[in-house]
Amino acid sequence: MTFATWTDPSCAAIAQLLTERTGMVFTPNRIESLEAAVRRAAERSGVTEAAEYMKLLETDKLPIDDLVAEVTVGETYFFRDPALFEYIRHHLLPEITGRIGTSRPIRLWSAGCASGEEAYSLAILLEEERLSDRASLLATDISRTALAKARAAAYGSWSLRASDAAFVDRYFNRVHDRLVLDPRFRTRVSFEYLNLAIDSYPSMTTGTWGMDLILCRNVMIYLDRGTIERVARRLLDCLADGGLIVTGPSDPWLAEIVPCETVATPAGVFYRRRKTAAIVRSQSWWTAPTTPPLPPVPACAEIAVEWSAPPPEPASVPGDDLLARSREAFGKGQYEHVLEMTCERESDPELSALRLRSLANLGGPAEAEREAEAALALHPLSAELHFLRGVLLMSLARDHEAARSVRTAIYLDRSLAVAHFTLGSILGRGGDLAGARRAYRNARVQCLSRHPGEIVPLSDGETAGRLAEAAQVQIGLLEAGS
Ligand SMILES: C[S@@+](CC[C@H](N)C(=O)[O-])C[C@H]1O[C@@H](n2cnc3c(N)ncnc32)[C@H](O)[C@@H]1O
Repeated sequence: MTFATWTDPSCAAIAQLLTERTGMVFTPNRIESLEAAVRRAAERSGVTEAAEYMKLLETDKLPIDDLVAEVTVGETYFFRDPALFEYIRHHLLPEITGRIGTSRPIRLWSAGCASGEEAYSLAILLEEERLSDRASLLATDISRTALAKARAAAYGSWSLRASDAAFVDRYFNRVHDRLVLDPRFRTRVSFEYLNLAIDSYPSMTTGTWGMDLILCRNVMIYLDRGTIERVARRLLDCLADGGLIVTGPSDPWLAEIVPCETVATPAGVFYRRRKTAAIVRSQSWWTAPTTPPLPPVPACAEIAVEWSAPPPEPASVPGDDLLARSREAFGKGQYEHVLEMTCERESDPELSALRLRSLANLGGPAEAEREAEAALALHPLSAELHFLRGVLLMSLARDHEAARSVRTAIYLDRSLAVAHFTLGSILGRGGDLAGARRAYRNARVQCLSRHPGEIVPLSDGETAGRLAEAAQVQIGLLEAGS
C-alpha cells in the first residue's frame, strides 16, 4: 500500500505544531485528510495559503481548535454503546452510591465530549435513576466549535441513531429539522474547554478531581504514545478512591502504558488507580506550589498520627520554619505529614490553608469544610481561606454558600483571578449567565494584568495566559448559549 506524502511543506509544519500543542499524531495515511482540513480551516479564516495560516497559528493570532475540530472526527451519538450505559445504570451507579452514601455528589466526567451527546446521555441516565440532584457532571473538549454545539444541545437525527422514537419524544423538542434537548439537561452539565495534552489537571480550577467515573472514549486514538501516557496518568490522578476510567474499544490498552488496575466487565475493561501508598498519595484535588526542599519537623504534639513512610531527610536548609516545611511536605504530596505538623488552630492563615488542602486531599471536602469554618473564625480576613471554603462548598453542591464565600474572597482581594473564575463556574451552573459572564470577564482582566507565563496565585499551577484563555472560552460559550 502507498500513502500520500506532503504536497505542501507548510502543512507538514502545521502537523508538527498540532502534535506539539495537542499530542495528536499524524500517520502517513492521514496526510491527505490533514491537508484537506488545513485548506478548509484556512479558508474559513480568510487566508488561502497554508504558510499564512501556519503563521497565524504559530503567533496565537488564531486558536488552533478550529483546525482540531476539522481533523478529529467529532463522531459521537446518544447512548453510543448501549451495553456500556446499561452497565453504568445497573452496576456502576449503585456501586458508587453504595460507596459514597450521601456524603458528597457523584462526580462524572466526559473527557473529549465532542458535541455533548455522551455527557447528555449520562445526564439522562442520572435522571432516570433519580440521581440528578446528587450528581455533578463535567464535560470537556479541546474544540470550541464542538463545545458551542454541546451547549446549544440541538441535534440532527443522526445523533440519535441508536435511540427509539419514544425516547426522542420524551427528551427532545422538534424545532424545524432539529431535535432540541429539554433545557433542564443543559444546566446539569458543565461544558468546559480543556486540552488533555496540557498538564492542567487534576485541578480545582478546572473541576477535574475526585471523579467517580471518567468516560474518555475515542479520544486517545488520536494521540501519540507519550501524550497517551501522560493523559492516562493524569486521568488516574483525577479519580476518587474506587473511581474508574472507561475508554472505547478502539482506544489504546492503558494497562500496558501506565500502572493501573484493570476491571473486566461484560461492558468492557475499565481502569482504576492501583492501591499503593505512592499512587494513592498522588491523588489530590489540590496540587502544590513549587517550593525549595526543606527538612521535616517533629509532629505537632496534639495530633498523634503514625505514618509508615517518613520522607527522606534532606540536608539542612536556611530559613527553616514551620510554614516552609509544611509547604515542602505539601509539595511532595506528604499530606499526612502536613497534618502532623500543623494543628487545628493555626495562628498563620497560610498554614491553615495548607492544612485544609491536605485534609481535603486525604479525607475529602466534607471534613475539610468543617475545619475551614473554624479556621475562618480565627482568620476572618484571609481571602485564601474564604476561597478554599467556597471551593469545598462547591464540591459539596452547596452553591449558594459557595458563591457567598468566593465573593467574600474577591471582596478581600479583587486580584484573585481564580476566585473570579470559580464564581463564574458557580453562577453559570446555577443559570445566572449574565453574572457568570461578568465573573469570567473579571477573571480575564486580572489575568491580563499579569505576564502570560506567570503562575496565578491559588490556581494549582495555572498560568495567567492559560487561565485568561480559559475565561475567554467560557465567555464565548456563554454568549453562544444565551
Ligand atoms: C470522536 S470524539 C469522541 C466523542 C465521545 N467521547 C464519544 O466517544 O462518543 C473525539 C473528541 O476528542 C477531542 N479531542 C482530541 N484531542 C483532544 C485533546 N488533546 N484534548 C481534549 N479533547 C481532545 C476532539 O475534539 C473530539 O471532540
